[in-house]
Amino acid sequence: MDVDTNVLNAPRWWQIGVLYQIYPRSCMDSNGDGVGDLQGILHQLDYYRWLGVAGLWLSPIYPSPMVDFGYDVSDYTDIDLLFGTLNEFDALLEAAHRLNVRILMDYIPNHISDQHPWFVQARSARNNPYREWYIWRDPASDGGPPNNWGSVFGGSAWQWDERTDQYYLHSFLKEQPDLNWRHPEVRRAMMDVLRFWLNRGVDGFRIDAPARLIKDAAFRDEPPNPAYTPDQAPYYCLLHTFSRDQAELQDVIRLLRCVVDKYDDRVLIGEVYLPLPRLMFYYEMGVHCPFNFQLLKRAWRPLLIRQLIDTYEGLLSAEQWPNWVLGNHDVSRVATRIGVAQARVAAMLLLTLRGTPTSYYGDEIGMLDVPTPPALAQAPWERNVPGRGLGRDPARTPMQWNAQAHARFTTGTPWLPVAENYAQVNVEAQRWDPCSLLTLYRRLIALRAREPALHSGACAPIVADDRLVASTRTSGDRRFLIALNLNSDTVVFQQDGLYGRVILSPFLDQMETATNDAFMLRGNEGLVV
Ligand code: GLC
Repeated sequence: MDVDTNVLNAPRWWQIGVLYQIYPRSCMDSNGDGVGDLQGILHQLDYYRWLGVAGLWLSPIYPSPMVDFGYDVSDYTDIDLLFGTLNEFDALLEAAHRLNVRILMDYIPNHISDQHPWFVQARSARNNPYREWYIWRDPASDGGPPNNWGSVFGGSAWQWDERTDQYYLHSFLKEQPDLNWRHPEVRRAMMDVLRFWLNRGVDGFRIDAPARLIKDAAFRDEPPNPAYTPDQAPYYCLLHTFSRDQAELQDVIRLLRCVVDKYDDRVLIGEVYLPLPRLMFYYEMGVHCPFNFQLLKRAWRPLLIRQLIDTYEGLLSAEQWPNWVLGNHDVSRVATRIGVAQARVAAMLLLTLRGTPTSYYGDEIGMLDVPTPPALAQAPWERNVPGRGLGRDPARTPMQWNAQAHARFTTGTPWLPVAENYAQVNVEAQRWDPCSLLTLYRRLIALRAREPALHSGACAPIVADDRLVASTRTSGDRRFLIALNLNSDTVVFQQDGLYGRVILSPFLDQMETATNDAFMLRGNEGLVV
């Protein structure tokens, strides 16, 4: 657990700093079409600098039919007109760099839009040179799909192609055919995509679904999942033994890392929804930060969180850098999952853990999920498997900037409803409120930035019981105690020889109090001592 901090003599920007995910559709609309755009993000850059985040990860902005809101790319080397132009992108990048804010792109290598010219070619004839860029199979002996693999969004992962009488594989929607990463030309073309953006100056990528890039060469049937319960999405009724996380991924991901390493100081983040021990494989293959999504899934209980931190820290080698995620565009918002009061404690946890924190837009002001009436549902999962709460729209609603109409997100009709609470819960109101969640985020980010103990110091557990989780962070002679009360009752934290000064509470009131041997935490309070 005690990591030798010498390895971090020169920590990189993405290790010290906080990453912030922008969902461009919902950031800021500059042209009144109801959808956020690059000019809107440019307009808000000062806010991100003020907040103190080091890098902005932009969810996809490439040309796309938007069947999966940009995760169905029809051109990897341009910007969708909905968001702007390449020139506007360059201007955004330059402006961000001037403010010392980095920009990360979403890189979507596993699948593509069925409207992409490569796929249009591939499905035009069996002997087309692009055919092998995708995964085509003949029907099974009964005429049905070649195997039992399921699409994440429901139904078979195989789609029949009338014109050429074969099935193609799609891990997600049928409009998102999977690329065949066993084909050298695919590798070459997709490496070129990385270079295209690296040459423009982007600072790194969040790789979408890297675990899926290589599939079992024999396309064996997946085994049933004995732990499946009917409340889960149908996709989970099978174990995904053969369609993802294959050993041969090594070569592919190492290639990606080699490309990135030719450029200075860039970073590769990976969207890896796998148990912690499997994350280590992605570290070894060269992903700097395979996303650690465990806080999204665990119940908000001190003992579970303690166990999670200890397990993760125990698995990481000295060179492997931790990371933590509290929210993203695919899951319910943190303030909805654990409540507004605990969202403050969660901010404190996220921003005092060892490792790169990733923050999802709007979580810094406590935005909540916004229920979307079924008739307005936009996200495809909800439309394919209705009534299971699989829709992702509630966590993707427009950013709440101020109390003006539509929270000043747009002058038009927002593509998703703005939360009803926007008049109270918005950036402008919280920016000037010394006790707001936004102020807490900003202070935590600033504290973390100036204290090596907090961004790269060793992390040691102290206690966890059914109410409290506490750790220390140490670097040289600087030592911080972080104690978090995950309940709404008061608790007393006691430790012999403890002498310290409270420097931050989520309520932003009890500061500079000296403590001796014990201190009290109010309900929903955490303290940095
Ligand atoms: C990733 C994205 C998600 C998308 C899926 C398919 O999981 O985060 O939003 O639907 O990939 O591209």
